[in-house]
Amino acid sequence: MSSRAAIYRLTHPRRAARGSPLLAILPELICTAGLLAMIADTAASAGSRADLFLSGIVTTVWGLFVAVYVLRIWSAPEAAARHASAAGARLGYLLSTRGWIDLMAALALPAGWLTGLPHRDAQLFAIVWALKYIRQSSGLTVLLRVIRRAAPALVGIVTLFLVVLLIAATLSYLFEREAQPEAFGSIPRALWWAIVTLSTTGYGDVVPTTIWGRVLAAWVMVGGIVIFALWAGIIATAFAEELQRRHFLRTWDLVAEVPFFQTLGAAAIADIVRLLHVRDASAGTVVMRKGQAGDSMYFIVSGEATAMLASKSVKLGPGEHFGEMALLFGTPRSATVVITEPSVLLVLDVADFRILAGRRPELINVIEAEGRRRREENAAVRGA
Ligand code: CMP
Repeated sequence: MSSRAAIYRLTHPRRAARGSPLLAILPELICTAGLLAMIADTAASAGSRADLFLSGIVTTVWGLFVAVYVLRIWSAPEAAARHASAAGARLGYLLSTRGWIDLMAALALPAGWLTGLPHRDAQLFAIVWALKYIRQSSGLTVLLRVIRRAAPALVGIVTLFLVVLLIAATLSYLFEREAQPEAFGSIPRALWWAIVTLSTTGYGDVVPTTIWGRVLAAWVMVGGIVIFALWAGIIATAFAEELQRRHFLRTWDLVAEVPFFQTLGAAAIADIVRLLHVRDASAGTVVMRKGQAGDSMYFIVSGEATAMLASKSVKLGPGEHFGEMALLFGTPRSATVVITEPSVLLVLDVADFRILAGRRPELINVIEAEGRRRREENAAVRGA
């Protein structure tokens, strides 16, 4: 491996850390150490040993970020396509989101020092390191997609919130201005009470005292709960839709890989994708035991499973299926099936098996023919 490739792997541990979760999250651990030191330093007295120690950690982490930035620029051509020029690859990294975040992380402390603030305040610029989490969290990417998807409905809720807020502030100004001119003497002043009440925060620093003011407060509080419930409902629905969409896409890709389904058209695959769910199984997993009742069958997308029969073991690989006999013939499981290599399986529950039999009898006929062959083979071995 060239030294540039080695540096590339070193500065991109997530890609290099196959199977080592600790190495994969090393950048986050370093970032967390720097941020925790910066935060803890605000509680230490200036010039104390703790202050020096924590500042030392912050500066060390900054030094690492600078080194990583420089090395990532240098090793960027390793990730680029073969025909791309080295300069193009480096420019690509510099202009990428990751490049910008790395640049900000590297410039955080110098920017603080340039302000001329005391060192602990200058160090607060290190808060931009938190951006590194955003870049690396796939969960946040999902959240951004969810917000984009739900944006029209969310804008509607925000508009409703603002309208209710203005009405509440105006009415409270009308009802309370004489009793409490300090808090309700103008609409801008009344807005503070309105937002605290509508958001159901209720600090209690300003409380309406007139009867109409209290009636209004009751409505505003209930209105606030309804608005936030709507808000949460919209986000939850968009989340569920996004997860379903991801599940659909992943299942689709996997179904398309199984030769058994490859003869089907897109419409039929879309139909089947909704019935199947994906299961990742590690080596050694016992998927079913002999004698159990059968509630689902499995298609192997990748990996290997072994059916342990009384007389022999049968290895089943990508494209093959198992667990169909119990569903077809209503018998207990005829063998124990164990995963012998890490596998991706597509699972078809018994209810969905019946639906598939109704919609795609030709598929079930193929499964049934194989089930019969296996049953006869087992019977012949038992008889021998
Ligand atoms: P089932 O009986 O539901 O559960 C055990 C599974 O092992 C069975 O379905 C078949 O899918 C599989 N199996 C049983 N016998 C054989 C065989 N002879 N060859 C391949 N697979 C088998």
